[in-house]
Amino acid sequence: MRRYSRITGTGSYLPPRRLSNSDLVQELAAKGVETSDDWIVERTGIRARHFAAPDVCSSDLALEAARSALAAAKVAPGDIDLIIVATSTPDMVFPSTACILQHKLGAAGGAAFDVQAVCSGFVYALTIADAMIQTGSATRALVIGSEVFSRILDFTDRTTCVLFGDGAGAVVLEASDSPGILATDLHADGKHVGILCVPGSVSGGKVTGDPLLKMDGQAVFKLAVGVLEDSARAVLSKAGRAAADLDWLIPHQANIRIMQSTAKRLKLPMDRVMVTVDQHGNTSAASIPLALDAGVRGGKILPGQLLMLEGVGGGFTWGSVLLSL
Ligand code: UT7
Repeated sequence: MRRYSRITGTGSYLPPRRLSNSDLVQELAAKGVETSDDWIVERTGIRARHFAAPDVCSSDLALEAARSALAAAKVAPGDIDLIIVATSTPDMVFPSTACILQHKLGAAGGAAFDVQAVCSGFVYALTIADAMIQTGSATRALVIGSEVFSRILDFTDRTTCVLFGDGAGAVVLEASDSPGILATDLHADGKHVGILCVPGSVSGGKVTGDPLLKMDGQAVFKLAVGVLEDSARAVLSKAGRAAADLDWLIPHQANIRIMQSTAKRLKLPMDRVMVTVDQHGNTSAASIPLALDAGVRGGKILPGQLLMLEGVGGGFTWGSVLLSL
């Protein structure tokens, strides 16, 4: 009998400090940076974001999200044999945030590693976990997106610092006789490295280069809308399904206008698109599992429904996962 993987629980966590646009506008004004609630809402759909306290790391946010997903799946930490954390804001250069999380969870013994695909990280991580479960390398996985993007923002650059937030989302993915994950589709094109990057690195005992996020927003926007449509069509075609069959599109939450454009291209009404960017901002690899968990816990996303998860981000990377919940 063929072995599949299936999501059996979701969880998420947002750090308690919530900044509305007007809170952020005030903080930035004090630094001489001019922006407005109107500009942020009109250009992005963002109304608020959460920022972690200075002593809180990605593994701390991941721990809360993981515990909540494990409780939903009724799985004990010791039964997890694979942990993949998608993050671009790891606690340390090494070891991986996944290893740090594994220890905090008390889930020693299984494989644990990070995936670095920026805002596509969760879709990459879920695809890897699915493949490892299908081939028998793992049976019960925790797949997490966790970010503290507030640490890599340049708060003097209004074109980027208003866009991002912190948070974590998690799923438990288990081996199953029935799908589960129906099809996956991943891509990257490294020629676009420069349009979204943190160009610094650690070398010779110090940070070299610039450790803060740089983005050519318009270039990212244009690429994103094209590749999201292509990947959606590819993953649907692999599974022999049509866009009209989707109950929910759960896209990376970067900008409401990108989500509207993807929905329009797929002829999907916006009431079948999970939107949390208004409350979370762009939480990079955490945005898709945060949106998924918000939909599940809000009673919108129901067992048996057909979902498409779609990520896009730095690299340039993009991809989709089609699944039945
Ligand atoms: O998560 C990874 C994926 N990332 C994304 O998907 C982000 C994709 N890009 C975007 O979402 C949009 O391009 C942005 C939200 C980043 C920018 O929106 P835009 O409609 O492309 O604006 P723009 O860059 O064309 O800027 C328009 C104007 C400029 O002023 P001028 O040159 O027209 O006078 C900017 O200087 O808006 C100005 N501006 C701002 N004004 C007030 C830029 N940022 C701000 C700001 N407040 N925060």
